[in-house]
Parts: sequence; structure tokens; C-alpha cells
Amino acid sequence: MRAEGDAPVTVSRLIEHTDYRNQLLEDVRHGLTAYRKHLPSKYFYDARGSELFEEITRLPEYYLTEAETEILAEHSEGLMARIRPDELVELGSGSSTKTLMLIDAMHLSGGSRYVPIDISEDALRAAAKELCATYKWLEVEGLVGDYVADLDKVRRRGRRLIVFLGSTIGNYVPTLRYSLLRAVAAALDPGDLFLLGVDLVKDEASMIAAYDDSAGISAEFNLNILRVVNRELDGDIPLDAFEHVTRFDPQFSCMAQSLRATREVVANIRALDLAVTFHEGEEIHTEVSCKFTRGGVEEDFAAAGMRLDEWLTDSEKRFALALGSHA
Ligand code: TRP
Repeated sequence: MRAEGDAPVTVSRLIEHTDYRNQLLEDVRHGLTAYRKHLPSKYFYDARGSELFEEITRLPEYYLTEAETEILAEHSEGLMARIRPDELVELGSGSSTKTLMLIDAMHLSGGSRYVPIDISEDALRAAAKELCATYKWLEVEGLVGDYVADLDKVRRRGRRLIVFLGSTIGNYVPTLRYSLLRAVAAALDPGDLFLLGVDLVKDEASMIAAYDDSAGISAEFNLNILRVVNRELDGDIPLDAFEHVTRFDPQFSCMAQSLRATREVVANIRALDLAVTFHEGEEIHTEVSCKFTRGGVEEDFAAAGMRLDEWLTDSEKRFALALGSHA
């Protein structure tokens, strides 16, 4: 329990339940009737999906979290001492685990407000509860929503640092990445900063292993999107007829994940009154995870009207934190 006088913790919705549902209906109809079937990766993250993803971050093969944590451990205090933000706005905050280092460092430099935005209300509520128990001084304003569409609705107080960790930006194909960076640039006033985590291009075997671990958690996580569709839209897609596929696409420098039908299946999505045929070998594309270089990030920032101020990597140069501001 919080005592009187403690900083407030709120979780509110930027997106209404009905909007979420209408969007899901539209996305699934569009995605499963397309010539190349696809489902948006944001639907991975129901309560079970968020937990599976947390498990992925603890896998030995999934080097991303470890590498990013190393950079944060090394540089959080220095960064915050230079930036001195009053508030930290985090996009796709999930469990907020890595952010604790930034929150600690923000406190040392005088900031006290944390605004996590995430599509998963379950993950957000759990994180807000933990944070309020740990940091009595921290004002938490959790927002359930889509951080590209809703970023302009976030109230500001003082100097702002927007953080987007975990290389989640890699999950945006180039055109959407551009919209996202434009939305971020628009939410920055002069003096504000943007801290972005990006996974770097490296040998293919390490990248493949990160998305196809030996314990099979990546496969479970990928398949969970079908569970979400079945549950939310009264569907009967048989999970055992699909297998997890991951590959590296060198042209776009992206890992691409999909689910491949191992036999012909006809499934009914009753909420859409839709029968979908999956041919043997046909794939549903579920996610891309693009990999970056310093030059690429510089170009992406420039296209969105930002400049790259700092570039920090882990000791093995697997991952980077890019600090940007208005050009
Ligand atoms: N956002 C994560 C990433 O791109 C999601 C992810 C990790 C993922 N492993 C996966 C998605 C396996 C599908 C399958 O790194």
C-alpha cells in the first residue's frame, strides 16, 4: 500500500476496448485474406505472450537483452547526468525491467516522472504496481495504447526523454519506421532527447539462434499469435498444423519470422464469418526484426528531422544505444 503523500500511480487507456477490437477484426481479416498472409506482431502480447517474451529475454541465445543491459548498466548515470530529464516517456515498456537503471539514474539527476506506454494492459499494470512499491517518489502515468498513433496525446511536464529499447524499432518495416520516428520527432521540444536501442547486424548464425532457440520458446511465442486470434475472434486455427520459421533477409537486413502450415487446413474465424484455407507450406508472416548499422540509424534519424548525438555499444558490439535530438 502507498502511504498518503506518495507520488501517484495511474494507468489509463489511450485506446478504447472497442477500438482495439475493431482494429483486431480489420487486421485479421486483411492479413488472412491477403495474397501473402500476415498478422501484425503487436498481437503477440496478450498476458501469456508477454510472459513468453520475458522468457525469451532470459534465453542464452537471445543476446539482445544482455547486451543492452550491459550498455545501460555502464552508461545510465552518465547519460542522465548530461540529459537531466524531468520525465521519462517509454514506448513499448513491457515489464520495464531494463528501465529501472534509467529510473534510478533519473532520480539522481532530479527527475521524478515515468510515463510507460504499452499495448498490453496486463504488462503495464504489473509493471506500474512493482514500480510504485519500489520507488515511493516516482510518479507513474501508465498509458495503454499504440505509441505511434497516441504519442501526441501524452501530457508533458518539463524536459522530456523518450526511450524506445529492445530494438523494437526493428519490428517496423522501413515505411512504418519512418512514421514512428516522425511521431517521436514531433513529440520532442528543443532540449528533449530520444534514446533508441538497436540490434546491430552481425554474423547470421547468432541472429538465427536468437530467433530459433533450442528450448523452443521462440516457437511457442510465435504460435501464441494464433491462440490470440482463436480466442478473441472465436477461431479454430489448429496450432499443431503450423511450425515456427525464421530467416535472415540480407536485402533488408532483417530477420523475418513466420508460421508455416505443415498440411492443408481450412479454419473458421467465426467473429469474421470467414473461412481461411492454408495450403501446405504456406506461411503467415508475423514479424520482421531489422538489424542496424550506425550509418543506417544516422540516415533514419536525418529523414525524420533528428540528428544522432551519441552512439554507445556493448563490449562485443552486438547492440547499440543511439541518442538523438532535433536536427
Ligand atoms: N520483438 C522481438 C524481437 O524482434 C520479438 C521476438 C523475439 C520474436 N523472438 C521472436 C518474434 C521469435 C517472433 C518469433 O526481437
